[in-house]
Amino acid sequence: MLGSGEKLAMVVAVLGVLVVMGSGVEGREPTLHRVGGGKNTWAPNVNFTEWSSHEHFHVGDWLYFGFDKTQYNVLEVNKTSYDKCIDTGFITNVTKGGRDVFNLTEAKPYYFISGRGYCFSGMKLAVNVTVTLPPPSGDPPKKGGSFCSVGGVSRWTILLSLLAATFLFCS
Ligand SMILES: *[C@@H]1O[C@H](CO)[C@@H](O)[C@H](O)[C@H]1NC(C)=O
Ligand SMILES: *[C@@H]1O[C@H](CO)[C@@H](O)[C@H](O)[C@H]1NC(C)=O
Ligand SMILES: *[C@@H]1O[C@H](CO)[C@@H](O)[C@H](O)[C@H]1NC(C)=O
Ligand SMILES: *[C@@H]1O[C@H](CO)[C@@H](O)[C@H](O)[C@H]1NC(C)=O
Ligand SMILES: *[C@@H]1O[C@H](CO)[C@@H](O)[C@H](O)[C@H]1NC(C)=O
Repeated sequence: MLGSGEKLAMVVAVLGVLVVMGSGVEGREPTLHRVGGGKNTWAPNVNFTEWSSHEHFHVGDWLYFGFDKTQYNVLEVNKTSYDKCIDTGFITNVTKGGRDVFNLTEAKPYYFISGRGYCFSGMKLAVNVTVTLPPPSGDPPKKGGSFCSVGGVSRWTILLSLLAATFLFCS
């Protein structure tokens, strides 16, 4: 009886550890960022600097540009062209049907503008992409995450202990 209880305690402990490991390797799902915040907000007179300052872009995330393709386009450019609204010699033409996505594959700054003069009306976007899992030290959100994980494990451990106790009581 006591022996089986000890075994159950071990199982509970092992499951607890697995929960910790699971929450650690899970990481985060890629995010689709709707540029400008809405479905059709790649448009003039939107402050994309303001918008991007509230977003966190990670490697593997996607940008979604929703726009009127008869008027606007989306071009990936370098910083100089972004600053000066130069729409020739761009890096990538992201434009397809007006509901276009761009994969942020590298940890670096990316720059986008609309051609046809609309860059001068504010249709310019800079995003700073960071790696998926930043080092734990000196990163407050990560610290908060691991604190929550510890809380999660505690709940799991309590739940599993209750199950174990029920098992022992009923057998
Ligand atoms: C856009 O927002 C940024 C950050 O809030 C601000 O510094 C900038 O002046 C704004 N630009 C325009 C054109 O309003
Ligand atoms: C998007 O980027 C991520 C990270 O590099 C990659 O794993 C994924 O396969 C890419 N998806 C497409 C469709 O290119
Ligand atoms: C940026 O692109 C423009 C247009 O193609 C080009 O003239 C310029 O040399 C580029 N600048 C850098 C730093 O690559
Ligand atoms: C970008 O690609 C779209 C779709 O293929 C095309 O219609 C458009 O002319 C291209 N824009 C530029 C500036 O090359
Ligand atoms: C991008 O983020 C990194 C790390 O936070 C920072 O060092 C760098 O200056 C940023 N670059 C731009 C263009 O904002």
